[in-house]
Amino acid sequence: MDNYYVGLMSGTSLDAIDGALIRIGDSGGLEVISMLSTEFPEHIPSQLRNLISGKTESIHALCSLDTELGEIYAKVTLDLLSKSAYKPHDIKAIGCHGQTIRHQSGHKNPYSLQIGNPSVIAEMTGITTVADFRARDIAAGGQGAPLVPAFHRAVFSDPENARIIVNIGGISNITVLPRLKSHNAVSGYDTGPGNCLLDAWSTSCRGHRYDENGNWSASGAVNSRLLDSLLNDGYFSKSSPKSTGTEYFNLDWLETSYPDVTELRAEDVQATLAELTAHTIALHIIREGFDNNEVYLCGGGVHNKDLTERIYHHLPKAKLFTTEKLGLDPDYVEATAFAWLAWCTMEKQTGNLPAVTGAHHPVILGGIYPA
Ligand SMILES: Nc1ncnc2c1ncn2[C@@H]1O[C@H](COP(=O)(O)OP(=O)(O)OP(=O)(O)O)[C@@H](O)[C@H]1O
Ligand SMILES: [Mg+2]
Repeated sequence: MDNYYVGLMSGTSLDAIDGALIRIGDSGGLEVISMLSTEFPEHIPSQLRNLISGKTESIHALCSLDTELGEIYAKVTLDLLSKSAYKPHDIKAIGCHGQTIRHQSGHKNPYSLQIGNPSVIAEMTGITTVADFRARDIAAGGQGAPLVPAFHRAVFSDPENARIIVNIGGISNITVLPRLKSHNAVSGYDTGPGNCLLDAWSTSCRGHRYDENGNWSASGAVNSRLLDSLLNDGYFSKSSPKSTGTEYFNLDWLETSYPDVTELRAEDVQATLAELTAHTIALHIIREGFDNNEVYLCGGGVHNKDLTERIYHHLPKAKLFTTEKLGLDPDYVEATAFAWLAWCTMEKQTGNLPAVTGAHHPVILGGIYPA
């Protein structure tokens, strides 16, 4: 029997909510039926930014935004269904990642907080909602991240060829998929900044939320002193498992790493930041010994031509594609992953990879909020 699931994802870029409606067969075969990306209402990103940066510590602000985001996620779901002429009762469950406000997996009392109230989503849509995916992995001693490698393994692995999946969102993360026949473990972690510094510098210097196609960075020249200073950061040489966020890689980090940055030509800084993202993605792939293999890109960064050309330049021996080649739209891999993770939860199957998150054992992820 076919089952239908909706996945909802909004990441660190705070650009939009991505929704994917998928069909999963009993054996796990998956088909994406419909996709929809909806920008946040204008007042939301700044409120989220204040909570994420710690500028706002108000419990009222947090909880009220939790409810409002739940309503927005519900509306995106209903829009996605009406676009594809499916009804709420056709859908087994929604997998909602939620918006990360804080991720403190290394803390003495570790936690990861995503908001977007799942009770509100279940009530407004009439669809069972699975949320809070990271908490159980953390309770089992894991980092609660990354969770998508299990999905990458399920849909992108190949019996004969090792593959690398690179997601370029606000932060960049890679999944290393050894060829299935080798029985080697999958690994996955954040490589550092994706689009976050490019977006932040573009917003601050030009008022453009992002650098369309990387045209602005392509007009500048890489400043090697700036690049060397940024590459000196300890995160890049740290071994995995490791994860990071925009609370670390932001304009304060840039200015602390290179106090004279505002004296450089703005387009040269943008070129250097694009080079930093490309260089650090490639660096980790080379370190893994997989620079001779197939590399598949996804996430919003695939639309930045200057950035993808730089990655290409650093990985001349790799076969570079987007996930389109494997049948998944690169803008919806993460949303599809959370639909799949909700399927795992509803089927009582484990969804974490202990070798990736560091958990003591595999666990069933998420809380279920019945329709
Ligand atoms: N045409 C484009 N040109 C340049 N950059 C683009 C373009 N389209 C999207 N982007 C970049 O992609 C970003 C959004 O990517 P994406 O939605 O994958 O990130 P995210 O929401 O942070 O996701 P996640 O954290 O889950 O990986 C934008 O903020 C922008 O920087
Ligand atoms: Mg996004």
